[in-house]
Amino acid sequence: MPFDLVIHTRRLMLRPLQPADVDALYALHRDPLFMRYWSTPPWTSDEPARQMVAVDQAAGAGADWLRLGLVRRDDDALVGSCDLFDHDRQSRRAMIGYGLAPAQWGQGLMHEALLALLNHGFTDWGLNRVEADIDPRNLGSARVLERLGFRREGLLRQRWIVGDEVSDSAWYGLLRSEWRGAGLADAADPPSTGDDA
Ligand SMILES: CC(C)(COP(=O)(O)OP(=O)(O)OC[C@H]1O[C@@H](n2cnc3c(N)ncnc32)[C@H](O)[C@@H]1OP(=O)(O)O)[C@@H](O)C(=O)NCCC(=O)NCCS
Repeated sequence: MPFDLVIHTRRLMLRPLQPADVDALYALHRDPLFMRYWSTPPWTSDEPARQMVAVDQAAGAGADWLRLGLVRRDDDALVGSCDLFDHDRQSRRAMIGYGLAPAQWGQGLMHEALLALLNHGFTDWGLNRVEADIDPRNLGSARVLERLGFRREGLLRQRWIVGDEVSDSAWYGLLRSEWRGAGLADAADPPSTGDDA
């Protein structure tokens, strides 16, 4: 996992987080709309953003996760992030996470970003399976996963307690064979990597 990884899609650049992203990350994560189905309450300071950037930068290549900021190509604004995490190398699986600023919802941007991230996971990491754990009430998230070919595999009851709210997990999985079989790998824009940002 090279830490200078850059992936271009039609409208986005996916790249590692930088110290200059702290304000944008805090703005995202203090928004209750963005955080409605997140695994933590909305942030009340920029400290978690600083930690997120520092941890990613310290980990660099070889970490068992990859988090990439989603940067709009037309104005260079950081509008979200997506990540592969809990990488189990033996079983060749990882989990996927993602979030996009509410002002950007409904334009297919997360679909575009996750096509590229999944392509990276199945190709560069050699994954056999990608998993997602979402709140079953998060219809937008469910739809994003289904459009990518994920199947809902089960419901884990009362798995999360965020603040005072207890919530279930809907568990989704996407196999390498389904990804290839659905032709989604070919649908991803050919990624460009490295220093052509
Ligand atoms: C979930 C989220 C990533 C969706 O991003 P997005 O860029 O708006 O999604 P897309 O535009 O790619 O939409 C994909 C599909 O989901 C549908 N969709 C998006 N938001 C929806 C909503 N709130 N309710 C129902 N469907 C929705 C779109 O209509 C589209 O459907 P289609 O394939 O039939 O055209 C975004 O709402 C988000 O970041 N939410 C806050 C953070 C979050 O909850 N992250 C997930 C945690 S598990």
